[in-house]
Amino acid sequence: MVVGPITGCGTESAVNETPGTSTPAVQDKSTDIVVIGAGGAGMTAAIQAVQDGAKNVVLVEKMPITGGNSVRSTGGLNAAPTKYQERDGIKDSIELFVEDTMKGGHNLNDESLVRTLAENSAAAVDWVNDIGGDLSVVGMFGGASVKRIHRPSDTSAVGPMLVTTLNNKVEELGIPVLLNTKAEEILVDANGAVTGVKVTGEEGTYTIKTKAVVLATGGFGANAEMVTKYKPALAGFATTNHKGATGDGIVMAEKIGAGFVDMEQIQTHPTVNPTDQTIYTEGVRGNGAILVNKEGKRFINELETRDVVSEAILKQTEGQAYLLFDQEVRESLKAIESYIKGGIIVEADTIEGLAEQIGVDPANLKETMEKYAGYQASGSDPDFGRASMEFPLTQSKYYAGLCAPAVHHTMGGVKINTEAQVLNTDGNPIPGLFAGGEITGGVHGGNRLGGNAVADIVIFGRIAGSAAHAYVMENGGTTEPTIQAAAKPAEAKPEVEANYKDGTYTGVGQGKGGEIKVEVVVKDGEVIKVTLKDHAETPGIFENAEEGVVGEIIRKQITEVDAVGGATMTSEGIKAAVAQALEAAK
Ligand code: FUM
Repeated sequence: MVVGPITGCGTESAVNETPGTSTPAVQDKSTDIVVIGAGGAGMTAAIQAVQDGAKNVVLVEKMPITGGNSVRSTGGLNAAPTKYQERDGIKDSIELFVEDTMKGGHNLNDESLVRTLAENSAAAVDWVNDIGGDLSVVGMFGGASVKRIHRPSDTSAVGPMLVTTLNNKVEELGIPVLLNTKAEEILVDANGAVTGVKVTGEEGTYTIKTKAVVLATGGFGANAEMVTKYKPALAGFATTNHKGATGDGIVMAEKIGAGFVDMEQIQTHPTVNPTDQTIYTEGVRGNGAILVNKEGKRFINELETRDVVSEAILKQTEGQAYLLFDQEVRESLKAIESYIKGGIIVEADTIEGLAEQIGVDPANLKETMEKYAGYQASGSDPDFGRASMEFPLTQSKYYAGLCAPAVHHTMGGVKINTEAQVLNTDGNPIPGLFAGGEITGGVHGGNRLGGNAVADIVIFGRIAGSAAHAYVMENGGTTEPTIQAAAKPAEAKPEVEANYKDGTYTGVGQGKGGEIKVEVVVKDGEVIKVTLKDHAETPGIFENAEEGVVGEIIRKQITEVDAVGGATMTSEGIKAAVAQALEAAK
């Protein structure tokens, strides 16, 4: 039997079951490797383990969909030296990658991990492309000496492409994904070796016996309490993270004696829309955008590292700035279209017109733009020392997006070695426990460079998957598949063309606790945003329904999506409210 929706498409065979000990109604199970967290790192680890020959790998995911924070990732994957850099005449090396990452991280990073990251980075790009992904355009990001970030060829955000690619591979390999299944506890024997994971799914709590666990639960950027515990200065900051990034893995690892590093190192992303927390990818600045304050003046080298740019923005009037660019920058980066569609960018035919719209002194802004065009032409920025200036920013239309820093990446986490083994507080590996991605600490030190998180999840996800499989084989791993899989994971892509009338609509549906009110925004015929305005549903259940149903409605552009298990009435209420709103949009 299986608990929770199982995704993948392998042949139907039973998961090994052992007599239940946790709850009489739910039988325990057994496998070889449990990967906790079906975000980018977790799916990568599971795929790699199976590619290495593992027969029994299970992904456990507490959310109703896969993807974690990775699906929100906008930048790309830093790698060097790659064939794509060579194609573009970019001179890069492992040494320079290590140097930039250490410098960006204020040398707090564990250099052995950074070196492992850099050495495996070119292969990571090839691996993603080999399993059906598309990382073939190389761009500029903050803190990098050269163009190093690898992105999709259509210059769209990397996250949806990566998660769709990983979902497809997980499905192709028949790896079961237990959605809505929360890992509660990692079980160890008297020697401290991993023996299982206690989980709670829709049918109750049970144990999955296993030889190895890969922790890929992500960071804790959405857990405001934990963020302020480790960095009190971030109290009240918004976050770019998905709701599931609550640090559950940290708590579980702590209970079995894991060591931790750099927990107080928490990164803010400098350019986040203060209203809806959309990240304006650093790629916009990399492709030429500048930052101006509310007085219409530049105040920083826009391609400085995130900590430096964030701090500079916080010192400006109201702690905010405008990301400013022109038509040429817009056309260079597809990711910008989603910001324009989302209504978070102001546009005008002239600089003065833009200045008026954003309430900035037109004369100041004009002077700033003229000066910048001159710097761009001469290739030198005497004010702030910006080296890469792609465009003069003189092509109408002009665009501006309000931004402020928000919590983005928790750089500390469990201590690992270069084999992705989790180390205990004495520095020794915990037998059978591996980790990859944002749950780990040490790779990024005191400041992560943009593009190094996607590198981290793919590179250390792969290392963790391989190491877990090798460990299992040394410890009597099974050689025959016993895993059951079913339908395709939820994807991050619209599945049908919608054709609604543009506008903002409201609707009401009946949930479990009463009326649920929503606001639905339609742009270019598609539902682009559903905001839940009012409800009286149970906290927790409501968030689950929101995360699952709203995401699915936007992806599929229909309201007939599956209800979230355990939150059926709330899900139906949200669906009915959106359907009512869309009646007026037909
Ligand atoms: O700005 C960005 O696109 C974010 C990328 C990252 O966090 O690596």
